[in-house]
Amino acid sequence: MLTNKKIVLGVTGGIAAYKAIALTSKLSQAGALVQVILTKGAQQFVSPLSFQAISRQPVYLDTFDELDPKKIQHIDLADWADLFIVAPATANIIGKYANGIADDMLSTTLLATKAPVYIAPAMNVDMYQHPAVQNNLAVLEKRGVRLIDPNEGYLACGYTGKGRLAEPEEIVNYLEKSLTEGKLLEGKKLLITAGPTQEKIDPVRYLTNYSSGKMGFAIAEVAANMGADVTLVSGPVALPTPRGVKRIDVVTTEEMYQTVLNYYPNQDIVIKAAAVSDYRPAIQYQEKLKKQAEQMTIELKRNKDILLSLGQMKEHQYLVGFAAETRNVEQYGQDKLSKKNLDAIVINDVSKPGIGFGADNNEVLIIMKDGTEIKIDQTSKLSIASQLLTHIAKQIGVERS
Ligand code: CTP
Repeated sequence: MLTNKKIVLGVTGGIAAYKAIALTSKLSQAGALVQVILTKGAQQFVSPLSFQAISRQPVYLDTFDELDPKKIQHIDLADWADLFIVAPATANIIGKYANGIADDMLSTTLLATKAPVYIAPAMNVDMYQHPAVQNNLAVLEKRGVRLIDPNEGYLACGYTGKGRLAEPEEIVNYLEKSLTEGKLLEGKKLLITAGPTQEKIDPVRYLTNYSSGKMGFAIAEVAANMGADVTLVSGPVALPTPRGVKRIDVVTTEEMYQTVLNYYPNQDIVIKAAAVSDYRPAIQYQEKLKKQAEQMTIELKRNKDILLSLGQMKEHQYLVGFAAETRNVEQYGQDKLSKKNLDAIVINDVSKPGIGFGADNNEVLIIMKDGTEIKIDQTSKLSIASQLLTHIAKQIGVERS
């Protein structure tokens, strides 16, 4: 996977900078073309000559060392990269990158690149756990930066804990795995629905549910990273559109139904993560309803079941439903799988604390049509999305091993 990949490796000033020499060597041996940027701090620990000898490329040290008048060095390097990795990444570069600070060769090139960026932090355990650092890492992860977690162990500062730079072999394996993942859904059209739907009662009120859209948006983001052509049909949510995803906003179940059906014929994979409103008020008032007696009744009418319709008209599509349950979770999930003619169902127990609606984490049971069951313990919705899509890719036989 790394053959002929153009990699920019940024090395910052931590004791683990020496491991970046071995990393350069391993990447070169794997067939990658590596260009290295050393920060001033890194130059205190390692010599540019070591990297130059291994990469057989000039090493970049300063934004203003403009060696070739035809080029602007940091822009040229940013555009050249297929992949950008910072290893080791100190708290300083993480903070600068998260906040858009560009004051040296590495930070300017990082801001200028459109290539996927990987960050491998290394620092003292207390620094790593500091809320400022964790917050900056979370900001970067949200922007699509991949984090290669540090290992636990003995640290150069004498402490023991999490903060050791991942070993060069682990970093190379991580990059290879993520490049393979990047092709898993290449050429596939994937439609995903997310969020709640809203059904109008009168000009100031509506019926809805607690869905935040986070699970569906995570699937859209990961599917796009896996190379799929993603259409996201979203109910009203407060979430940014993931990079590379085509988003269509809808409000009601009927609008979602029409939009999804429109796109359905040429999709390869359809995932219905939306929490669709099963009912709408029978009358939608044009004027605000005034309060009246002690009790009031709103008559509701059934909405179409979008997923059921998709199951009935299914041709080549791989169809995945969600089931949010509060009891008899597995049984209800199984029933929906067969009743709606699905290829897989993702079941979550929304009564459990810390997962489900609005949370960043989830815990699910995936049941496939062939009976395969996959239990995913509590983890981030992004990780659930990645595992779910990897299983789907396997099932539709696009995985290239
Ligand atoms: N769904 C749908 N259209 C509806 C209701 C649900 O497409 N009108 C889809 C959801 O997007 C989800 C799946 O059906 O993928 C299951 O939704 P859920 O609300 O758990 O189940 P329901 O089918 O509505 O069944 P029940 O209300 O009886 O639990």
